[in-house]
Amino acid sequence: MALNGFLDIELSVKNPNELGAFWERHGFIRTSDGVYGTADRATVMTIKEGDHRHLSAMHLSCVDESDIADIAKRLESIGVTSRTTSTTLECTDPVLGHVIRIEVGAPTPVRDSGPHAGNRPTERTRWNRRTASIDPSKRRPPRRIGHVVLGSPDIKASNAFYFEGLGYRISDQFAGSSGTFGRVETDHHNLLIHRARVGYLNHYALEVDDFDAVGENGSAVMKENPDSHIIGVGRHLLGSNIYWYMRDPSGNMFEFFADMDHINDDEHWANNVRRSDWGSPDAPAPVEAWGPGPNEAFMAIPDMEEIAQARAKRGLA
Ligand SMILES: [Fe+2]
Repeated sequence: MALNGFLDIELSVKNPNELGAFWERHGFIRTSDGVYGTADRATVMTIKEGDHRHLSAMHLSCVDESDIADIAKRLESIGVTSRTTSTTLECTDPVLGHVIRIEVGAPTPVRDSGPHAGNRPTERTRWNRRTASIDPSKRRPPRRIGHVVLGSPDIKASNAFYFEGLGYRISDQFAGSSGTFGRVETDHHNLLIHRARVGYLNHYALEVDDFDAVGENGSAVMKENPDSHIIGVGRHLLGSNIYWYMRDPSGNMFEFFADMDHINDDEHWANNVRRSDWGSPDAPAPVEAWGPGPNEAFMAIPDMEEIAQARAKRGLA
């Protein structure tokens, strides 16, 4: 028994209405003030006002009440206090400062949109009609929040918190433990935490149906603001997901992704597939199987100094 769901995130930004309106134009549904969902899930993102852009909370689920007690005990053993009821736990990330909320439950399943008829050289499944992908009225918006990537100035403490304390399962690691992919669902990663000078949200990622849907959603954002493009479209090595990275109006990087690796046999993955030495300790690990890799816009966070100053004011590195 363990964590079993990455439910939603809370972002704090300078202009929450602007970000909310952006996501409403790109497929989110406002469920109440500052709370946005998709057609599949009532809540995927809560947007609040903050003096700088940052992740302010993550909401997870676990299987049963014994998990709440187990997680509280493990957190205590690494010096992190938590507030619990029999079915909920709340604590604060000791390095990054955002709140973690856990409740007994499970993510709402996404609805089945049916097979997407396609034609491969050896498998023709669409006859005598055009693909739905060319019909703009059939755009398929994001389904769910899939993962976040966080930079940490104290990677040792962060790894202890997420993997020993909360119990994220490790999927892959960069050499020297400088970055670790972790999961609470079957996704290859619901979290990547990597070493950084300042604690910050590198990006949040929204899952869409398939390769076409990455293109459809990314193109719609581009049409509105060509400067929102960062990198894409490509396919990652670790996680295998198709990606398109963009910037939202609040300055946060986000990713539309599809076709990630999924793991339902933890032992098989750990013994046969998992890597713990990706890249080298001195050079950035390669991230793309094909497509454009990290560029200047991806690596250089334009408002890093502002984030560093705002965090310092809160006593955070
Ligand atoms: Fe990502």
